[in-house]
Amino acid sequence: MTLSHTSQVSSRSCLAIVLAAGEGTRMKSAKPKVLHQVANRSMLGHVLATLTQAGATSTAVVIGPDRDDVAKEVQKVSAQARIFVQTDRLGTAHAVLSAREALAQPGDDVIIAFGDTPLILSDTFIKLRSPLAEGAAVVAMGFEAKDPTGYGRFITSGNELLAIREHRDASEDERAITLCNGGLMAIRGDLALPLLDRVQNKNAKGEYYLTDIVEIARSLGHRTAIAVVSEEEVHGVNDRAQLAAAERMIQNRLRQAAMASGVTLIAPETVFFSHDTRLGQDVVVEPHVVFGPGVVVEEGAIIHSFSHLEGARIASGAGVGPFARLRPGAMIGPKAKVGNFVEIKNTDLGAGAKVSHLTYLGDASVGAEANIGAGTITCNYDGFGKYRTEIGEGAFIGSNSSLVAPIAIGKGAFVGSGSVITDNVPDNALGLGRGRQTIKEGWAIGFREKAQAANKK
Ligand code: UD1
Ligand code: CA
Repeated sequence: MTLSHTSQVSSRSCLAIVLAAGEGTRMKSAKPKVLHQVANRSMLGHVLATLTQAGATSTAVVIGPDRDDVAKEVQKVSAQARIFVQTDRLGTAHAVLSAREALAQPGDDVIIAFGDTPLILSDTFIKLRSPLAEGAAVVAMGFEAKDPTGYGRFITSGNELLAIREHRDASEDERAITLCNGGLMAIRGDLALPLLDRVQNKNAKGEYYLTDIVEIARSLGHRTAIAVVSEEEVHGVNDRAQLAAAERMIQNRLRQAAMASGVTLIAPETVFFSHDTRLGQDVVVEPHVVFGPGVVVEEGAIIHSFSHLEGARIASGAGVGPFARLRPGAMIGPKAKVGNFVEIKNTDLGAGAKVSHLTYLGDASVGAEANIGAGTITCNYDGFGKYRTEIGEGAFIGSNSSLVAPIAIGKGAFVGSGSVITDNVPDNALGLGRGRQTIKEGWAIGFREKAQAANKK
């Protein structure tokens, strides 16, 4: 992508139309296809976010009837997008025309994208639009297919795109062509409606094909163009195996991007990211770590093996895991340490604080340099409400203690191990809440004598 392309494109307004009315029968799912996720975001969400990055100035999404769930996802990712319903599925051109009201004010460019093609990059949309700035009426996105079966074929003459022939309508000779239609198209705004309105359904499927606008544009004396992308980028998802393939490709991209930005991944193929994972420089991620949505890891922190993190922020120099689980609202302070078999939710862990083993902290705040002993549990829930635990700076919680919230442990205070703490512990005090130990001297001797005598009988 040259700079001149980008700047030529960025001065033009652009309506993006996303087709998302498919049933996705082959997914065998109660959920509509476009809501299935890759890297923790719906496929439709990926496409919408990419279109925004690519400079779409308005967006229309075509969905199937009674799809409130899809409409809700559109609003979540792209609040200004307009939603249109395609009642009968009569083909891709018919689907685009469902957004007729939006097409009436198209802006300079119109781009068409599919909601089930989540790997498209924003640069590709820009590449697709740039021939429009140079006078083309229609640009189609092509790729060299390893196996072209099922795709529309590009009928070309030199660099000219003459037509796109759908597989079912193609002759033997045309089926030998491997340059295929990726599905994305860009249309000069003022021509979009006139071209689409001319599409007919005289073909093998009896559908209104978007691809027919190439031939129509040429018959009206307009110029058409081709933009070429990798097969990976136009990978469409129709079944669960293709969904897994899309996940694999997007994870590879996220891993490459993390390493390129200065993150060490010891075994990148075993680490799974979310689309929004943010990692600072010199973060180290050991093998087998899973990042759910909304995780930020600052410079130099280390995430040890087998940890699962979501909605968490890990400050610089902190250590997490192995085998740690950070849930939403876990805020791990600078140089704090979270060890093995520790679960943390909605909790602020202060700088340098240590929670080294076998602990649950929920709805708590822990002051700097506090030490939370093994087996500590915040009892934050009584079946009805959630309650907070406040632990002061430098406090020391003895192992195997239950802190029954709401509760406050003061700065520098101690809690004796094995305590069940139900009353606040003031600063610098010792809180003990356990049965007092008693000693019975020589008790074992008497016990053994009695037991042995009983056994001889
Ligand atoms: C389409 C292209 C084909 C291209 C292929 C790339 C046409 C006519 N053909 O074929 O050239 O090689 O994509 O994957 O465009 N949709 C609707 N409403 C409809 C019909 C389709 O919303 O009435 C949506 C689908 O949900 C899907 C997209 O449009 O997201 C493409 O439709 P699909 O039927 O999968 O087209 P293909 O036959 O794969
Ligand atoms: Ca398809």
